[in-house]
Amino acid sequence: MTRSKRVVKADGLRGGKGVIVEGDHFVGSKQAKAFAAEAIEKFGRAVLEEKLVGVEFSLMSISDGKTVLHTVPVQDHKRAYNGDEGPNTGGMGTISGAEGMLPFLTPEIVAEAEQLNTNVISVIKETTGQPYIGVLFGGFMRTASGLKLIEYNCRFGDPESLNVLTLLQTDFSTVVEKAVTERLHELGKLDFDPRASVCHYLCPEGYPTNSVKNVPITAPTETESESGVAYFASVAKMGSELHLKGSRAVGCVGLGDTMTVAYAEAVQLKNQFGGQLFSRSDIGTKALTDSRTEYMNHLLDG
Ligand code: GLY
Repeated sequence: MTRSKRVVKADGLRGGKGVIVEGDHFVGSKQAKAFAAEAIEKFGRAVLEEKLVGVEFSLMSISDGKTVLHTVPVQDHKRAYNGDEGPNTGGMGTISGAEGMLPFLTPEIVAEAEQLNTNVISVIKETTGQPYIGVLFGGFMRTASGLKLIEYNCRFGDPESLNVLTLLQTDFSTVVEKAVTERLHELGKLDFDPRASVCHYLCPEGYPTNSVKNVPITAPTETESESGVAYFASVAKMGSELHLKGSRAVGCVGLGDTMTVAYAEAVQLKNQFGGQLFSRSDIGTKALTDSRTEYMNHLLDG
């Protein structure tokens, strides 16, 4: 009998670099043990899990402790280079589908993830007596044997939030105000632009291991339009210049009636930036999205 592959996780934030997967990042036990030892020294704990096989997505929900309102599912791309090659990063880019549905998911799978987020928030109240007020960010995998939870984060996902907050039509400050005053039920639901979205992060050359830093980049004067928004991240204003600070620099979100249009908008936006930057060019392409769907169908066919 073949045993399941292993995953080792650091039990703390490591900027997207806290997980190693057998077969992808290590072979045999030696590297796994070294990674776990380092994680234990830093965070006091490492987590050993079974490797799941399927297609990942993120589902973030906002809660005031009683009412839970869900955002749209988003898929992140963690590897640095096209074709899911290279080191893990904090996330190189993200996609969400038209009408809030990704092509490799189903409404039933998304509803199940939403229900899991709702249940967890309810159980937190039951077991701790404290309401969970804030964002619950679930990392899920659709597998051949159904929905699996990978992890929860008590924060917005990055870049997931760039897609979700660009699409959110309900006023965000109202959402936050209703959440902290435990009146989220007054909103009933969150409204989203029905368009697809594609985010490409522009990163300093050498990211994530050896980023260039403190060098200027050029940016367009207009960074927001009906069809996209560029969000500045790890950059700093130095006089009249904008300098790279070493991590993901600018998240370029394109919107469109189809993912192909959203992709073209993201590319058009990111191409207006100049300097020692790179990004993935395959996130949101039909080829990559279709390959995810075909892979999911292949797993479901057994
Ligand atoms: N995009 C993954 C995260 O925010 O952890």
